[in-house]
Amino acid sequence: MPSDQEPTHLAAMKGDGFYNRHSAMQTTGIAALLPLWEAACRTVVVGEGPMTIVDYGCSQGRNSMIPMRVAIEALRLRSGVPIEVVHTDLPSNDFSALFEVLASDLNSYMNDASEVFPSAIGRSYFEALFPPQRVGLAWTTWALQWMSVSTIEAPDHILAGMSSEASVVAAVREQQAKDWELFLTLRSREMRPGAKLLAGFTARTANATGWEWLLGELWAAVCDMATEGWLSEPERKRLTIPIGLRTLAEIERPFAEAGVFAGLALDHLELVKLADPCWEDFERSGDASAFAKRYADMTQAWCAPMIASLVAPFREPTAFLAELFARFEQRLSERPRRHEPYMAAVVLSKRA
Ligand SMILES: C[S@@+](CC[C@H](N)C(=O)[O-])C[C@H]1O[C@@H](n2cnc3c(N)ncnc32)[C@H](O)[C@@H]1O
Repeated sequence: MPSDQEPTHLAAMKGDGFYNRHSAMQTTGIAALLPLWEAACRTVVVGEGPMTIVDYGCSQGRNSMIPMRVAIEALRLRSGVPIEVVHTDLPSNDFSALFEVLASDLNSYMNDASEVFPSAIGRSYFEALFPPQRVGLAWTTWALQWMSVSTIEAPDHILAGMSSEASVVAAVREQQAKDWELFLTLRSREMRPGAKLLAGFTARTANATGWEWLLGELWAAVCDMATEGWLSEPERKRLTIPIGLRTLAEIERPFAEAGVFAGLALDHLELVKLADPCWEDFERSGDASAFAKRYADMTQAWCAPMIASLVAPFREPTAFLAELFARFEQRLSERPRRHEPYMAAVVLSKRA
């Protein structure tokens, strides 16, 4: 249910390049999106002037290098226009890691680029980021499951979108519907006629998310700590990560009546079940500790700063986080399972 406390600001990913080093699961999802992205880049309208590609919710950039390279190569087969690549994220994002990757990563799309101009914006994409009709191609992965605000408290799960409490389910659904429509409306204004947007984000079937094992263990670790006095009951409730998982029907809803929403047409919508990037190694080695460490690090990478900001009003977060993630890792090593989350793959185009 909605909290009566001040909303906590959304926190970006764990800094100092930690997310870049621990995001193999997200990389797997991106690989699954590349054929759709390449098709969008081959068919998008390319004008005379510079082409603007935007990477909304870029984090520290490593996972954006291949998709941006794919886009640049597809465009270069058709045109020599200057290309600007703009990476956007929250103001608290570790943009230094992004610029390091651009300068020195083996996969940097800048390595052999000509007439390609990268830059970055530190501002939420729930605000306008560009003048009207500036954007030609837009990419966003693993970001749109985050809600625009953190006001919902779930008594029975660490992830707002995995609560079974009816009032929480309804509040998440309402917030996610509003956020999706706002995101679409803002992007549509920024996109030029014929522009395309590809979005990949955490989603669900009616009954499953694919996160039941991983986040069930994280929640169990929180509950153990609450039982042992690390958290009071109100603190445990407040510890709710503002993420919701949409069904395909919820994603499609704004387009349902007219086929178009805010000038955007829904060209493609699909639910993809991802393979576990760590399971083969685990089967080969049988090393449950190494498997658990990889998942504990990958989980910390995306949620530790948010958890820190949710507990910070009550306690010093560093020791709390160390204890929580040690317990989480231990639980994962005792009960290793395949992690196969669902991802929505969405392609939109701006009507001419
Ligand atoms: C899991 S990371 C994904 C990073 C990268 N796109 C990838 O696929 O690996 C999610 C990113 O979305 C960003 N994000 C969440 N809400 C956002 C918002 N309202 N505006 C801009 N970025 C946001 C987070 O800060 C984070 O960097």
